[in-house]
Amino acid sequence: MKKDDEYLELFNNKGKYHFEQLFVVNNKKFIKNCGSYLFDGQNYIYDSSMIEKQKLLFELSKKNSKILEIGTYMGHSILIMLLANPKAEITSIDNNHLYAKPSLEYLQKNFPEAKITFIHNDSLKALKNLNEKFDLFHVDGTHRHEIIAKEFQYILNLKKDDHVKILFDDIVAMPHLKKNILHNLPVTKSFLPNSKQNLYVEINCNTKLFEQNLKKFKFQNFKDLVKYRMIKLLVRKAIRNGIVRNRTTVRLWDLSFEKFSICRKLKNLLLEAIY
Ligand SMILES: C[S@@+](CC[C@H](N)C(=O)[O-])C[C@H]1O[C@@H](n2cnc3c(N)ncnc32)[C@H](O)[C@@H]1O
Repeated sequence: MKKDDEYLELFNNKGKYHFEQLFVVNNKKFIKNCGSYLFDGQNYIYDSSMIEKQKLLFELSKKNSKILEIGTYMGHSILIMLLANPKAEITSIDNNHLYAKPSLEYLQKNFPEAKITFIHNDSLKALKNLNEKFDLFHVDGTHRHEIIAKEFQYILNLKKDDHVKILFDDIVAMPHLKKNILHNLPVTKSFLPNSKQNLYVEINCNTKLFEQNLKKFKFQNFKDLVKYRMIKLLVRKAIRNGIVRNRTTVRLWDLSFEKFSICRKLKNLLLEAIY
């Protein structure tokens, strides 16, 4: 059987049923505009346009048994992991337990050989307190560069062996971080599916140069952060001085830069433009 068919066949035979049941255990509710690996956040309908990223997560989960995820939501990415590896040991972090808790309880019940642990906390606090080591990391929580960059640095301490394996979701939100990782760190493997929605990297942390590379990475990250903050400030100032004077509108504009993908794309284009 072709690899392509394996995921689709499993999803159609088993996954779709659990996808529907996850909606039921969440009282047929979801957060409007908050999508997942399986739906677009508008309507609770399986979204096949994300097949490439679903397959990448599926394939990685077959080979890695101990997985740490940031961003649980309705457990859809964990469902993909469990279809690939029903005995997986998965720890998932989310600062919102309303959807995560019933979803993970459902998945644990239906995949009894798996071991699913939910951490209800902010990602940075949770990562700081974790003592375990993991084979694979799935980063799909907040979509803010400054937070993902910090999550990444915590993750480096939680790897099981010399190579850290990370799957980043929604890389549209982190073009500068992606560039920085690929340019400054000893990446031994990277894969960007055709859909360009997520990015897989394997980094060798055991080279002599790693500490030096990490310093370069941190410095670049600091510069990116300053630029990111400056753009934010400039945009806010421009809005305040020129376009509108209403505080609520300014706040809404500010929020929209994080909340809506079109605004995030615009912000990232601005960021790319000043490099
Ligand atoms: C896009 S959803 C995750 C989707 C999920 N991985 C899937 O595909 O099924 C993002 C989740 O990250 C959580 N989140 C956002 N910022 C966070 C933070 N700073 N710490 C922990 N969780 C966070 C949100 O509550 C939300 O449930």
